[in-house]
Amino acid sequence: MNLMIDITEMKPQHVNEVYSISEEAFPLPWAKDELVRETVNPNALNLVALHEGKVVGYVQCWYTLDSADIINVAVASAYKRQGVGHRLVRDLILHLKERNVENVFLEVRVSNLPAQRLYKSMGFITLSKRERYYVNGEDALVMNLQI
Ligand SMILES: CC(C)(COP(=O)(O)OP(=O)(O)OC[C@H]1O[C@@H](n2cnc3c(N)ncnc32)[C@H](O)[C@@H]1OP(=O)(O)O)[C@@H](O)C(=O)NCCC(=O)NCCS
Repeated sequence: MNLMIDITEMKPQHVNEVYSISEEAFPLPWAKDELVRETVNPNALNLVALHEGKVVGYVQCWYTLDSADIINVAVASAYKRQGVGHRLVRDLILHLKERNVENVFLEVRVSNLPAQRLYKSMGFITLSKRERYYVNGEDALVMNLQI
């Protein structure tokens, strides 16, 4: 069953919890001060998922004109597979539509099947592959959703 969550814009007070989730999720997490800067970046849209006041997931995106890139999305381990990732991406897309964005892009590791399934379930298609895109030499799939 899906978890009861509220989705809201990321604010500086969420950054410590977002950082903890990112440390668990990514080999090279963003520094806390970089995350704080993103909360005031006019070309960024960052959302957090709150469960009983606690941050359980987040998504970061950059956008210009009619195009957006999802930079990071992660859910705390204990809250995975309860619809949080889907809600974050769905709400992000709704916000982007309001800002007249028409195309959403993202890169995902070829080995990251959970994330690829999430994106495909939301209608993203694979456009191309970027070879050795990641620091460890892994390829990325470039995915796109027209909204
Ligand atoms: C990818 C991630 C954000 C998904 O978050 P989540 O909250 O667990 O995802 P949801 O519960 O909303 O799942 C939605 C759909 O995605 C797919 N999915 C998610 N996790 C999956 C898994 N482990 N295995 C297979 N499919 C999975 C399923 O299709 C799922 O629908 P279902 O549960 O009805 O089958 C989460 O696994 C995560 O934080 N991973 C580490 C960070 C990361 O890799 N981020 C993406 C970088 S591009």
